[in-house]
Amino acid sequence: MSNRKLIIAGNWKMNKTPAEASSFIKELKPLIKRSRNEVVCAVPFVDIQTSITAARGSRIKIAAQNMHFEEKGAYTGEVSGQMLKSMGVTYVIIGHSERREYFAETNRTVNKKVIAAYKCGLKPIICVGESLAQREAGLTAEHIRYQVKAALVGVTADQVKKAVIAYEPIWAIGTGRTATAEQAQEVCHIIRMTIKELYSKRVSSVVRIQYGGSVKADNAHELFSMEDIDGGLVGGASLKLSEFAAITAG
Ligand code: PGA
Repeated sequence: MSNRKLIIAGNWKMNKTPAEASSFIKELKPLIKRSRNEVVCAVPFVDIQTSITAARGSRIKIAAQNMHFEEKGAYTGEVSGQMLKSMGVTYVIIGHSERREYFAETNRTVNKKVIAAYKCGLKPIICVGESLAQREAGLTAEHIRYQVKAALVGVTADQVKKAVIAYEPIWAIGTGRTATAEQAQEVCHIIRMTIKELYSKRVSSVVRIQYGGSVKADNAHELFSMEDIDGGLVGGASLKLSEFAAITAG
């Protein structure tokens, strides 16, 4: 076991109104009291304010699910990192596969967002993952290494230590088809070795790497017990109170 603290982040995606977010977080607070893990809720932009208020007095941290890479300007509909930081947001998910697929995010925009997040004091949760076709063609390792390297262009060693990398195989997201603990470990290890190659062994030993893709209470703990897996990015199961609380236990 490493001495990295596990980080369990719920990715709510486009779910819950501000009122629902507030009551969910208030009910979650007592349930996670004894967890030694870091607990994060990545909520829709409009839920951030009530979520932060509801989380007061607990260890729950609030994340955004996206941000723009510019500080401000004529970008209708966008939200900057600075705006998020000023509200008390701690983490920001960057490059989720749904954003890459449906909103034309590229490795280039992911990298710009990562750089911008650090600039305003947010910690990025950087998502990478292969498609089923890439896995079946034996391209997983190459694709993941490329995505990690592209996301980290221009990121310093001190900055990358605060990053969380989420390995989310696209074929496992929302499908109920979880990667086996061995499959997830194999790729998370590749990610750690890529960071080692880019920075150093010491840096690679502190970066936390999550697994995401159909994580549930009944498979989470086996996944999180693997050497290079330091928690999870949880979609569907993070919307259910008892399920999410069970995933954060430990
Ligand atoms: P899922 O989503 O847990 O519903 O598969 C994970 C994610 O997309 O972050």
